Amino acid sequence: MSDTYTFDAKDLKEIEKIIDKYPEKQAAVLPVLWYAQDKFGHTDPSIQKLVARTMDIPEAHIHGVVTFYTQFYEKPKGKHVLDVCTCLSCQVCGGYDILHYLEEKLGIKAGETTSDGQFSLQSVECLGACGYAPMLQVTNDKYVNFLTREKVDQLVEDLKAGKKPAFESITMPQHKNDSE
Ligand code: FES
Repeated sequence: MSDTYTFDAKDLKEIEKIIDKYPEKQAAVLPVLWYAQDKFGHTDPSIQKLVARTMDIPEAHIHGVVTFYTQFYEKPKGKHVLDVCTCLSCQVCGGYDILHYLEEKLGIKAGETTSDGQFSLQSVECLGACGYAPMLQVTNDKYVNFLTREKVDQLVEDLKAGKKPAFESITMPQHKNDSE
């Protein structure tokens, strides 16, 4: 099972380049996990094992990092992952209403994926955009702010049509190198 996923020679070269940027290889765990998630779409236990073996770092450490950050997907997700913030500011401004509206609209509960594999829904902690509450993040990328039911409807339609949401506020400087 641990061999289901592998890094090819090009991947190993890229991972080496990432590790070389840091004084200690442990510091490269986050970017290497991003690399793995970009390649495989998630970081499930077999991928955690692969990363641990490739970096020669204990699997428990990799697992600890993956499970600490909701941005890492411990199991395969839908094409679009909607992270609805339900932390304090968003909660006060209707974060749960938005979450429940999306649950109803998509026919799934938070933590689930639609049967067509299009959407996964998650309830997440503060994403650092409290002044724009209630908000959500789309697949570790764009933030969509000041959510209303109408805005959610539009977002879901746009995503289904292959249209990315517009930039609305800070995006966490993660792994994406979008040309936009
Ligand atoms: S409470 Fe939602 S972004 Fe901070």
